[in-house]
Amino acid sequence: MLNPFDIIIFGGGGDLALRKLLPAMYRAYQEGNLPQGTRILPTVRGADKRDEYIDTAHKAMKEYLAKGEYNAKDWKAFAEFLVPVVVNVTEADSHWDELKTILDEHEADKSRVFYLSLPPAVYGTCCEILSAKELITDTSRVVVEKPIGYCGKSAEEINAKIAQFFSEEQIFRIDHYLGKETVQNLMALRFSNSLFENLWDAKSIDNIQISISETVGLESRAGFYDKAGALRDMVQNHLLQLLCLVAMESPHKLNANSIRTEKLKVLEALRPLVAEQVDENIVRGQYVPGDLDGKLVPGYLEELGEGSSATETFVAIKAHIDNWRWAGVPFYLRTGKRMHKRCAEIVVEYKPVSHNVYEQDVGPIQPNRLVIRLQPEESIQLTLMSKRLDNLEMQLEPVTLNIELSETYSKGFHSDAYKRLMLDAAANNPALFIHRDEVRQAWKWIDPIIERWQEKGIPSLYRAGSWGPDDADELLATNNHRWFNTGEG
Ligand code: BG6
Repeated sequence: MLNPFDIIIFGGGGDLALRKLLPAMYRAYQEGNLPQGTRILPTVRGADKRDEYIDTAHKAMKEYLAKGEYNAKDWKAFAEFLVPVVVNVTEADSHWDELKTILDEHEADKSRVFYLSLPPAVYGTCCEILSAKELITDTSRVVVEKPIGYCGKSAEEINAKIAQFFSEEQIFRIDHYLGKETVQNLMALRFSNSLFENLWDAKSIDNIQISISETVGLESRAGFYDKAGALRDMVQNHLLQLLCLVAMESPHKLNANSIRTEKLKVLEALRPLVAEQVDENIVRGQYVPGDLDGKLVPGYLEELGEGSSATETFVAIKAHIDNWRWAGVPFYLRTGKRMHKRCAEIVVEYKPVSHNVYEQDVGPIQPNRLVIRLQPEESIQLTLMSKRLDNLEMQLEPVTLNIELSETYSKGFHSDAYKRLMLDAAANNPALFIHRDEVRQAWKWIDPIIERWQEKGIPSLYRAGSWGPDDADELLATNNHRWFNTGEG
């Protein structure tokens, strides 16, 4: 069992803290994974906010916990872990000394996790004050959220600044997708089943699709999102991380260094897309009003309240990994807001059989397909060809083996990426966090795309509630492929 720790959540009154981080810690408590003696210290900006904090957190918990998770008794016990503190993260005033006094009340070797739930622009200042006020101990860690920076250069500046105060081993860069149980299951599937080992390369696989579709729009993040767009918000991190896990070689051990080394090799082998190649291989889109689940939802510009914006809410990419294993296999990456369904899945399409032995017309022989669904429900489906058993004729049709993981493992456990990652940071386990070199390499691939978009073109429009712009279908059609849209076979 983990030792008790102190986790200081800078930006404790913010959306991320109230919506994700506190519920994650509450779940850890409910499951018996939050050690007694642990303190959760959310920071707020004034004494009034501190005095109200327990009530604010209580309301948030009732709102954001899933049905059946909240109960008054557990909340009361969990609230004992909360120690709200006043800190202004950009001013080195006396409040920081008060924070130090509180932290120093406990033994010096108790782990301190500084969770920067803050805009990246203030990471540097916050770390600087932490250091100046002597709050960083040998057992301290800092957790930072994506996206780190707006381009390679700004990411490097932020990383360099943090590195002045924390060693790389102390820096935990979160990509919450890596904390999803199903994403870890991807590695389990690949590296604990010999079945796939020999069928995981260009000889067997025709193409791979990695798709994260969302039905939500801007939510309350217009200011952030309009500057970031889907490429920075989802592709630079979540999609590229999934791509790494799908495409990497087996790490020699499942430890942080080996996993990160293999992921980095994938990022390095990603074929660069520059200038016209960006236009040919990437589609960017923006949603206009449309019908989603029977309701008319506004378009991006209406939600934003601006007359114009070239920010993309959808991206589809045809990528290639230039190495022996993947030569010639297109990797299609897609993400978008206000799409037809909320879904994250990896679709592996196998090559057709090399020779058709059937003489008569037995129906089309479809290539095998493996679908690993990460959310909303977690499942693995393998589609095979089978003879119809209900007649004497030789007739073939696809049948699907379906493993519903969410049904098998749902009892008494709420899978929550933030819970796992916060506990991993407290336990000093960096395997599911991102190394600085990965951030650098991912931006190296993304930067030329941003540059091209700044020079040229505007997003293609798609209706809210659709699967994205038509151009995204054409992107695949040029290779005789088509998107696997969940629920549409
Ligand atoms: C976040 C993005 O990192 O991931 C959001 O900033 C996005 O824009 C979210 O909605 C999606 O996460 P999940 O876990 O709901 O798929």
